[in-house]
Amino acid sequence: MSKQLGVGFIGSGFIAEFHAKSWMGVRNAEIKGVCDPNLKSAQRLRDLCIQLEVGEPKVSASVEEMIQNPEIDAVWILSPNYTRISVMKSIVTELEKGRSKLRGVACEKPLARNVKEAKRMVELVKRAGLLHGYLENQVFAPSLLRAKEIIWRRGAELCGRPYLVRCAEEHSGPHKAWFWSGEKQGGGVLSDMMCHSIEAARFLLTDSRKDKNSLRPCTISAEIASLKWTRPRYVERVKKLTGGEVDYTKTPVEDFARATIVFKDEEQNTIIAETTVSWGFVGPGLRLSFELIGPEYFAQINTLNPELHVFFSREVKGEAGEDLVEKQASEQGLMPVLADEAFTYGYVYENRHMVQSFLRGEMPRENWEDGLFVTQLLMSCYMAAEKKKKIKFPPPGLGDFVPQVARGTWNPKNI
Ligand SMILES: NC(=O)c1ccc[n+]([C@@H]2O[C@H](COP(=O)([O-])OP(=O)(O)OC[C@H]3O[C@@H](n4cnc5c(N)ncnc54)[C@H](O)[C@@H]3O)[C@@H](O)[C@H]2O)c1
Repeated sequence: MSKQLGVGFIGSGFIAEFHAKSWMGVRNAEIKGVCDPNLKSAQRLRDLCIQLEVGEPKVSASVEEMIQNPEIDAVWILSPNYTRISVMKSIVTELEKGRSKLRGVACEKPLARNVKEAKRMVELVKRAGLLHGYLENQVFAPSLLRAKEIIWRRGAELCGRPYLVRCAEEHSGPHKAWFWSGEKQGGGVLSDMMCHSIEAARFLLTDSRKDKNSLRPCTISAEIASLKWTRPRYVERVKKLTGGEVDYTKTPVEDFARATIVFKDEEQNTIIAETTVSWGFVGPGLRLSFELIGPEYFAQINTLNPELHVFFSREVKGEAGEDLVEKQASEQGLMPVLADEAFTYGYVYENRHMVQSFLRGEMPRENWEDGLFVTQLLMSCYMAAEKKKKIKFPPPGLGDFVPQVARGTWNPKNI
């Protein structure tokens, strides 16, 4: 077993920066390559890596060029959702032609835009014979790990398993144009952010001594709505943000979604997950909240309640930035600050786990089978919302289902 993993980043945008920052807490791995058709962006990420002393990555314009470098043992797919299949096809081709030494691939959430694509991703990674990690950072967040450990060791052990979880992720809207496009992203806020909440719910509710499949989804009800971004003023804002590419008077997507998933465990106990996501929350910044509830206990997490707050009076008139917390909406008043966002949100432990697994030749505990399962649950939520009724899981037709929001046929007034 080699003691050091050479890692290549595919994509050098917003999330790649988070991963680079998390690398300060990752052992036995160096960032050796960055590829992005936007070479300026790739160069910027290279400079950041050098500054953080996490690697001196070689910059490439293509996946093919990057993974031909024998120093690259594993890649992190950090490019937009609509590039997933083409990136994987390039990887498979290079491996089949014997031009790459890759042994692992990790992919950001969501694994794909719908079930058909997610199945194709799993098919391609198996054909390539690679170990695969699904980058769902929330199930590596230190507060979730600790909450789960304490609740299951003390509360559940003495009084019975938890029966209810509430997970929410809310902010004021995405930072890049392609996220706003239903077709490119795969949907609206449900596909973008409920992938986190669903997997966090499943993680908190599952007994870690048991298989993940010990928790079986039975029924799903869900609702989607456009509360903010189809209002005339905000339609104009989206047009501006996307350079005129996305027009929510014609092809709107949801900016609010909620779902209730009813699970059964091996003893036929009823267990419920309530998930809520929003692009219409304007607070100090990104808010992740969780509650885990059982017969004699509960745990709660809210990332906007950190130990550090700063106050700036109206005399402090700085430029807008995201230097206090992700998706920060203000630079004045009393504001929460996360001392280390990459750590709090789970990227450090996530990447440590992926690196260790790849070095040991083991499948990560969060992998593409989980990514596929989450995609199946997400698409079932869209189906339930479109049908306006509770549905059984898995619903018929799931394999070919593409939500109306991704096809540009959704009417937000039909609620
Ligand atoms: N875990 C999280 O909380 C979280 C947060 C944000 C984004 N994400 C996910 O990360 C992925 C990227 O999001 P982002 O916010 O960084 O987007 P972004 O638009 O900021 O960055 C994407 C980068 O990928 C590059 N790119 C485009 N096509 C490419 C290709 N074929 N090969 C290589 N690079 C390519 C773009 O030029 C851009 O630099 C998405 O799948 C998104 O869902 C996850």
